[in-house]
Amino acid sequence: MTGDMMTQARTPAGPAPPPLPPLLAARDLHAHYGGHHVLQGIDLDIAPGESLALLGRNGMGKTTTVRTLIGLKPASHGTILIDGRSATGLPPHRIARLGVALVPEGRGIFHNLTVQENLYVAARGGSGLGHRWDLDRVLALFPRLAERLDSPGTRLSGGEQQMLAIGRALMTNPRLLLLDEATEGLAPRVRGEIWSVIRTLKAEGVATVIVDKDLAQVLETCDRAAILVKGELAFSGRAAALAADRALQRRLLGV
Ligand SMILES: Nc1ncnc2c1ncn2[C@@H]1O[C@H](COP(=O)(O)OP(=O)(O)OP(=O)(O)O)[C@@H](O)[C@H]1O
Ligand SMILES: [Mg+2]
Repeated sequence: MTGDMMTQARTPAGPAPPPLPPLLAARDLHAHYGGHHVLQGIDLDIAPGESLALLGRNGMGKTTTVRTLIGLKPASHGTILIDGRSATGLPPHRIARLGVALVPEGRGIFHNLTVQENLYVAARGGSGLGHRWDLDRVLALFPRLAERLDSPGTRLSGGEQQMLAIGRALMTNPRLLLLDEATEGLAPRVRGEIWSVIRTLKAEGVATVIVDKDLAQVLETCDRAAILVKGELAFSGRAAALAADRALQRRLLGV
């Protein structure tokens, strides 16, 4: 080591520490369904605790993106890093263990299991966030599920099924929750309850990627937004900037 470097190393302020890696970073993600090239080079960065609105008209690749991030749909090209380490090609259960959970489009609960069984089969400890989700905390968040603990999934209303789907994802103690149309098809009051839960999770430091048709609500809730057009990112920026730009919304989202 030269004398100069020694001096530098001993300076009280020292060199700036390297910035923390994003919780999740995707680079040049591509995905195909047969010969259909659905994702055509997506880059995404999600910082710890950050919320991203993933937007786009029908069929633009939102569901494929979240399925690729969690390993349900293997990318045909590109890389996924979690905490700066490669998670490319890992199966969903390994990605779940790294702290990523999905509330899938269509809910994905087990209809032949009761509410309690659905929650228990998802349970897994340790997200590193310092507050662990367990049955009691999920039921405190969704008191309606507490009244339905022994009901099979088939007997639940749409809103209760959606709450159960979110509860299941929380039981895995995620640091990053991917929500694909979590308020779809629900009555306005139940939608309001789901948004309130999402805000609670955000306040607790859980990062989120939110796909939702309620543009005003999702932009108000999220820090950043990304818009997919035919499997490519046509916009990536502050959610507030997109909320203020009606012309851009009209051009890329047709609203
Ligand atoms: N299992 C599949 N097999 C073949 N093609 C598929 C499959 N799933 C999706 N696609 C096609 O991939 C493209 C992207 O679909 P994707 O479901 O990711 O879009 P989306 O943005 O989530 O749409 P929506 O708003 O309707 O949920 C569409 O053209 C769709 O038809
Ligand atoms: Mg979809």
